[in-house]
Amino acid sequence: MHAITVEEHGGPDVLRYGEAPDPVPGPGQVLVRTAAIGVNFIDTYFRRGMYPIALPYVPGSEGTGTVVALGPDVTDLAVGDVIAWSDSTASYADLVAVTAARAVKVPDGVPPEVAASVLLQGMTAHYLTHDSYAVQPGDTILVHAGAGGTGLLLTQIATRIGARVITTVSSDAKAELSRGAGAAEVLRYTDDVPARVRELTDSVGVPAVYDGVGKDTFEASLKSTRPTGIVVLFGAASGPVPPFDLQRLNGLGSLYVQRPSLGAYVATPEAFRRRADFVLTGLAEGWLNFHVGATYPLADAARAHTDLQARRTTGSVALIP
Ligand SMILES: NC(=O)c1ccc[n+]([C@@H]2O[C@H](COP(=O)([O-])OP(=O)(O)OC[C@H]3O[C@@H](n4cnc5c(N)ncnc54)[C@H](OP(=O)(O)O)[C@@H]3O)[C@@H](O)[C@H]2O)c1
Repeated sequence: MHAITVEEHGGPDVLRYGEAPDPVPGPGQVLVRTAAIGVNFIDTYFRRGMYPIALPYVPGSEGTGTVVALGPDVTDLAVGDVIAWSDSTASYADLVAVTAARAVKVPDGVPPEVAASVLLQGMTAHYLTHDSYAVQPGDTILVHAGAGGTGLLLTQIATRIGARVITTVSSDAKAELSRGAGAAEVLRYTDDVPARVRELTDSVGVPAVYDGVGKDTFEASLKSTRPTGIVVLFGAASGPVPPFDLQRLNGLGSLYVQRPSLGAYVATPEAFRRRADFVLTGLAEGWLNFHVGATYPLADAARAHTDLQARRTTGSVALIP
């Protein structure tokens, strides 16, 4: 088969396309021929060595395709099933060994580039809005990177719950997309974000900030949060937040900060299925729109990473083998 392999950490050019051995499905796994593969910001952290991973490795944690073989002990999937998976490994490839408990059958009519890239970001948006902080009708919340893959989904889910969503974006085109997802107010990072948020919330601040940007926005996130509110720091698109004096949370109004990861929120097959079902049902019912901003051939994964890191993408990004 063909796959992207990373032999050393570095820039996008370390993503090399070539031949690789076919994976063999182990117990509880199925072998899938991929139709599309999701690209996520976390793939760039592993590539750069920000998160630990043994070299060499094949990147990518999600995708969609057709089951072509079953490993031992697989009972609920069959050869020919079209599935999507997330929280798996080695997905930037023609063939992937997928853990059946980390997969769902794809309903008819969902295009491959959507099925491949909706689960990780969609399940993340679900736990962020239901568990990290349970968004309430009437809340006003702040979401950074509102036109990104996760940002667009988070905005739609929070809006559907009945919240008013303020977002930040970097361009007019992204502002329009964010408004289309339901954002009531769209700010620029260059605005005085805490001051604008306070203007929009009767000087109180918001109960929750969802911050996947990290280094560049964290300070504004803290200052936009109302007393006893929470900053959910769920990513580091601009870089990791430097070491932080917890005593500051006291002075800022008894704030909470969470640094979550999806893995903890889909740790059981039941949690995985519940969150995946929520996302797929949202798509089927039509209230959740999923914007795939760009697709690239699998061989051009380096270009996909370059564009994602250069903030040139909107919504999600998929690779086509
Ligand atoms: N913890 C979890 O469970 C979890 C799960 C999924 C994703 N995440 C995190 O969520 C964040 C969004 O992920 P995603 O895959 O949906 O990506 P994305 O939002 O589609 O892309 C990242 C966006 O961040 C914004 N950004 C701001 N400053 C940036 C900078 N200096 N460099 C690059 N981008 C910058 C850009 O939007 P603008 O141009 O509008 O600023 C960019 O489009 C990432 O931090 C990711 O790691 C976390």
